[in-house]
Amino acid sequence: MARRIKAAVAHDETAPLRLIGEHIPDDAGVELGDRFDTLELNADAILRMDADLLLVACREGSTEALRLVSLWHTVRGRSPVVVLSHGSDEEFVREAFAAGADDYLVLHPGPYIPEQVARDVEFAIRKAVTRTRSSADAGTQAGTLIPVLGSKGGVGKTVAASNLGAALAARGQRTVLVDLDLQFGDVALALGLTPETTLFDLAVSGGSLDADKLDDFMLRHSSGLRVLAAPARPDQAVSVSAQMMTTIYGVLRQAFDFIVIDTPPAFTAEVIATVDVADWICMVAMFDALSLKNTRLGLDTLALMGHPPERVRVVLNRAGTNVGIADAEAVEILGRVPDVLVPSDREIPVSINDGVPIALSRSRSQAAVAIRSLAEMFLADGRSEQSAPDPELPRTGSRRRGLLRRKSSVTATPELASGR
Ligand SMILES: Nc1ncnc2c1ncn2[C@@H]1O[C@H](COP(=O)(O)OP(=O)(O)O)[C@@H](O)[C@H]1O
Ligand SMILES: [Mg+2]
Repeated sequence: MARRIKAAVAHDETAPLRLIGEHIPDDAGVELGDRFDTLELNADAILRMDADLLLVACREGSTEALRLVSLWHTVRGRSPVVVLSHGSDEEFVREAFAAGADDYLVLHPGPYIPEQVARDVEFAIRKAVTRTRSSADAGTQAGTLIPVLGSKGGVGKTVAASNLGAALAARGQRTVLVDLDLQFGDVALALGLTPETTLFDLAVSGGSLDADKLDDFMLRHSSGLRVLAAPARPDQAVSVSAQMMTTIYGVLRQAFDFIVIDTPPAFTAEVIATVDVADWICMVAMFDALSLKNTRLGLDTLALMGHPPERVRVVLNRAGTNVGIADAEAVEILGRVPDVLVPSDREIPVSINDGVPIALSRSRSQAAVAIRSLAEMFLADGRSEQSAPDPELPRTGSRRRGLLRRKSSVTATPELASGR
């Protein structure tokens, strides 16, 4: 049986103790110890707490909560702290991680807390405590896990994820694409597949998870790519938990070379759990000032979550469109040079409608070449078997002019990729 965890709680009036208690399953082995109905605690109170971790439950945007989280770290070092709040406002999530939160969870308003929400809270608590006990537990897995993130809807996450998955599969890599956009996932659609089985079916199937069982729930694409589709209806999303996803990734890593994950435009519990175990992150931004700014915030958040910046690839989608942002200005807003530029191409929406990724259907188009260069970067990482270079890829050379102005979409050189 897992060791019991003693949690101290500090909360404000928006998150009463009863509500917090209801978020923790009775059989979770998590005991609520010291309780404080204020977030304005001093160092002495923090020192006296007899707790494995601190839960800070607060309204969104609470500066008192941020102050408490950072004071907790000052006083108690690496001891974990988890923030529970009422929404997932990007700015506040970022600030919470910046202050030192180990995890961030969204409270359910009640009165009835879905079992799955409570399980997510239990999982986050266990994960935070375990992580601080053994921070170096990665390294034994085989497959490379790459979530594709983007700070808002419509930036091209699904296009990037489905094409990256198809490109890796076409290169002979055992690849699975997981649709973690649990409410509005459209990966199956983008690949022309009928989602006969989804993550929801897997979640409610009961029993333990192994590779054979997972195989029964995967769709098969003609490229060889396997797909774990998102639930068919938004209300089914709640059945899929962060904990379940982490278990799934563990199994997939044994059977696949690459696990590519499409995501919703938010740091949901499942996305945070995925980032936690990711080898690489693929961040998709669009060529407009707002998207670039939000992407930079997203990159900052990833760094605060402990993901190394050098393990992030930035895809700038719809590059080359003339929207009035100069190259240097775009790099300035983004804070780094993008790794891959995907031009606007009207064949992309066409390919989505046809259900055939452009990386396969129009393999010589600039967009397809760009996506394949992204796949090559992950292949070159050395975690997978070596394969011959793609003959259709252009050589990255010195002929490029403006970094973002160039028409052909080529791989940035390591020097370019490493900074401004
Ligand atoms: N480079 C591009 N050129 C043209 N259309 C694109 C491009 N990238 C994405 N699109 C279109 O934009 C829409 C949103 O893309 P999608 O990948 O679904 O975004 P997200 O998953 O981030 O919400 C889709 O209709 C897609 O066809
Ligand atoms: Mg999408």
